[in-house]
This record gives sequence, C-alpha cells and structure tokens, in this order.
Amino acid sequence: MEISFRDTPVERIKSDLLVIPVREKKLDDPVLRALDRRLKTHLRVRIEKSKFTGAEGTTLLFATLGMLPAGQILLIGVGASEMATDAWRKTGARARKEALAIGAAQIAVWFAPGQDSDNAAAALVEGTMLAGYQFNKYRSNSKAPAELKTLVLFRSGLKKTAAMQKSVDSAQAITPAVFLARDLINEPPSVATARFLGAQAETHCRGRGLTVEVWNKKKIAAMRLAGLLAVNRGSLEEPRFIRIHYKPAGKAKKKVALIGKGITFDSGGLSLKPSKSMETMKLDMAGGAAVIAIMSCLPKLGLDIEVTGYVPTTDNLPGHNAQKPGDVIRYRNGKTIEVLNTDAEGRLILADALALAAEQKPDYMINLATLTGACMTALGTQVGGIFSNNQPLADNLIRSSQEAGEKLWQLPLVKEYKELIKSSVADMKNIGGAHGGAITAALILEEFVGDIPWAHLDIAGPAFAESDNALCPKGGTGFGVRTLSKFLATL
Ligand code: BES
Ligand code: ZN
Ligand code: ZN
Repeated sequence: MEISFRDTPVERIKSDLLVIPVREKKLDDPVLRALDRRLKTHLRVRIEKSKFTGAEGTTLLFATLGMLPAGQILLIGVGASEMATDAWRKTGARARKEALAIGAAQIAVWFAPGQDSDNAAAALVEGTMLAGYQFNKYRSNSKAPAELKTLVLFRSGLKKTAAMQKSVDSAQAITPAVFLARDLINEPPSVATARFLGAQAETHCRGRGLTVEVWNKKKIAAMRLAGLLAVNRGSLEEPRFIRIHYKPAGKAKKKVALIGKGITFDSGGLSLKPSKSMETMKLDMAGGAAVIAIMSCLPKLGLDIEVTGYVPTTDNLPGHNAQKPGDVIRYRNGKTIEVLNTDAEGRLILADALALAAEQKPDYMINLATLTGACMTALGTQVGGIFSNNQPLADNLIRSSQEAGEKLWQLPLVKEYKELIKSSVADMKNIGGAHGGAITAALILEEFVGDIPWAHLDIAGPAFAESDNALCPKGGTGFGVRTLSKFLATL
C-alpha cells in the first residue's frame, strides 16, 4: 500500500473513496459544508434522512455521481470527544472494510487531527493495514483478498513533517510483524511445532544486525534448560530453544531481553485439560510468536538498542514418558521446583529462559506469556496483566501500550502469597492456592530474574480474539508486538 500526504482542499481530491471522520453532532463542520455545496445540498438532505449522527461506529456512504472528483464519500462517526489515536486507528480499519466492500482500491482520508498529528497519522495507517489481515490458507474456496493500493492523508494546508513520516514508516514496519505473529498463532498445532517455530525464526529474522540460533534437544540438555526438557518429556516432537540477537550499527544505548512462552500446544500434560479448554490451546505460543515477530522488524525500526529474544518452545503432551506430578526440576541457577500440576507448564519453561537471560545482565527483561486462565478471569479478553519488580518500567510499558492501542493493567506481586508456593520437598512448587493464580505464577517467575528490572505480561486473554473485531479477525491477535515496538523506541 502506497501512502502519501497531500495539501489539497476536499472538493479537489481525486480518489475512489473519500473518507471524512465526523464528530458526533458536529454535522455543520466546514468540511461537510464544503462538500455539500458541491453536491448541491444532496449530502445534507441525505444525512437528515439517515440515522447518521457521527456517533462512534456509525457510517454513511454517499455516491458523488460525478459532482466531485472523488467517486464515493464515506462519513465515519468517531463519537463526541476529540479524536484520540485509537479513533484514528479505528477510522483506518473502517475505511479499509468499506473500501473492500465497494471495490475501491484508493482511499483518501480527511486528516485534521487536533493534536499529536504524528501519532494520529501512524495510527490511521496502522488501522488501515491491520484490518487487511486474513488467514485463509486452509480454506478451499478462498480468493486472494482485494488489494488496497493507495492511502492518501490530506487537507488544505497539510504539511508533512519528518516526525510524521517517521512514525508512519514505523507503523508500516510493524504491521507485517503483527501479521507474522498472527500467522504463527493461527497455524494448526501439528504444523506449528517447536521445529517449525525455529525454522520460522530463521526465515523471518534476517537483516542487518540480526542473528538467530536454534538449539536442538542435545544443546538444550547441554545448557541445562531443565524446565523445557521436563515439559517436553511427554512429546514425540523435539523441543527447541530459539535465541535471536539484534545488535545496532552504532553503540547500543540499552540492552533488553525479551522472553516469550512458546508452548505450541497445551494439552495440560498428565494433568490433562478438559477438551473444551484445549480447543484454542494452539495459542499458547503467542508470547513466543510476539517475540519472534518484534525481533524480525528491528532492522527496519533501526533503534540503537541491543535486544535479545528468547523463546523456549515445545508442546505439552501426556505421552508415556511425560513428567509426573511430584517430579522435581533442578534449574541451571540451582533453584528447584516441585511440579504438582503439569498444566502449569509455562512458568517451568520460562524459568529456564529468564535465568539464562539474567546471566547477560540486560538493563531490562520483559516476558510475554499466555500464562494463566486466572489472569483472563480477572481482566477479560481485551486486557493483559502486567507485573513488575520495577515501577518506572511498568509505567513505561503501560504508557507504550496505551499509545499502541493495546490494553495492559498492572497486578501486584503480593509478597505474602509466596507462602502459597512453598513446597515440602523443593524450593517452591509450581502452583499456588485456590485463588490469585495469576499472581502466584508471576511470583514463581520473579524467582528467576534476580535483581534485574523485569516485567511479566500475562497475555492469556488478549492473545486470541474469540470473534472478529475491527482490527483483527477471530484468532491470534499479535498482542504485544505493537506495545513492545513503542516501548523499545522510548529507550
Ligand atoms: N496455557 C494455560 C493458560 C491459558 C488458559 C492461556 C486459557 C490462555 C487461555 C496455562 O498453561 C495453564 O494451563 N495454566 C493453568 C495453571 C493452573 C494449573 C495453576 C490455569 O490457568 O488454569
Ligand atoms: Zn497449561
Ligand atoms: Zn500453557
């Protein structure tokens, strides 16, 4: 999709589809009046006869019948308050859907943000691109989706600034990464194995400064990644440990470790899940997918920070050699965990990766994991939980998520709950009590990060959309990729 900025009045713009965001009850806006004059008041009459008020989510399509250079006009209601970045993202998505429905290949959007025009432009571009995602490779009757060729942002007097161009460029760099994460999550679990994820990391993480290592079982054993080996024992598939490194051309300002849970299918192991809960358990590598995806676009983002991505990956199956409740895992940093529920496997493989990452003494460690049903119960499917041992880091990530249009809500690391993970035979056990499951899981992870500023994003809810929405169809969402890109840019 080609993106351009134009300083053109509304009556002169030429495009298949002209998109005008309209604030609620602001139907006397000068831009609408200018259009109405050219349309010999037909537009006003049409609005009056319709239910269109500018309320959020309402739209009105109007054919110009040769009275304007643009073919059709789409009014998009954006609600009463001033348009925030999120509204621009949704406007882009709605415009894309409508363009597709009427076979328009070009969109021109009246671009008049009150403030923060750099982020507004990026959000508009991002929304337009994100809404184009489809996963059709397993449908026999799928046609290639119609292409949107151009997106023009225009108004009279619009000046493209360098900052605007830069933020649009990074939006264009980040959406293919979000799509990569979605693809990896949506792929059926017998295809998207640990080996497959390793191969995908090798395929997609290319470019200046990026190196990829994919460790096989032998190397994993040599590195004493005991949690990953334990979880893998019930499977015929070999595990993999993926390490992706990005080194900027110049001197790195900061060193960051990103760690993603890569359970390619979570059956629960011997602590087997009921079949209903298993239906979506191919999503359990969404954290790992987000890490591979963000790493893949770092050369394009060109940030001067050093980033290492770690993805421990295996499926969690109850095969004949599976780990058993009561088994104890001894980690490379000497700590031990008693496994009382093999379905609490994410923390077991993340512990290896966190311990390994901590040895490199990064400035920040951030892990993403579809870790607990409890977090989804607490925050629902739209909001991820964030836990951190460092408040400025948590604040920064939350701010980044807001800019990215992804929602994070902080949950506490309650020291008193450490009692709940005490084991009678080992340093800790892998489950807590009946309540606060998202917190006890986070407390286990915290044991492996030492004193490094760390944040844990529990993305069990938002990793997977249960139904279609404006920015993403049902399935993997790529949650976290956009937040991480914003966050890394702040360092
Ligand atoms: N992968 C699941 C968590 C999950 C649940 C993610 C639903 C997405 C949607 C995780 O491995 C798990 O099974 N956790 C258990 C932990 C429990 C056994 C302590 C859970 O949340 O029930
Ligand atoms: Zn599990
Ligand atoms: Zn899991």
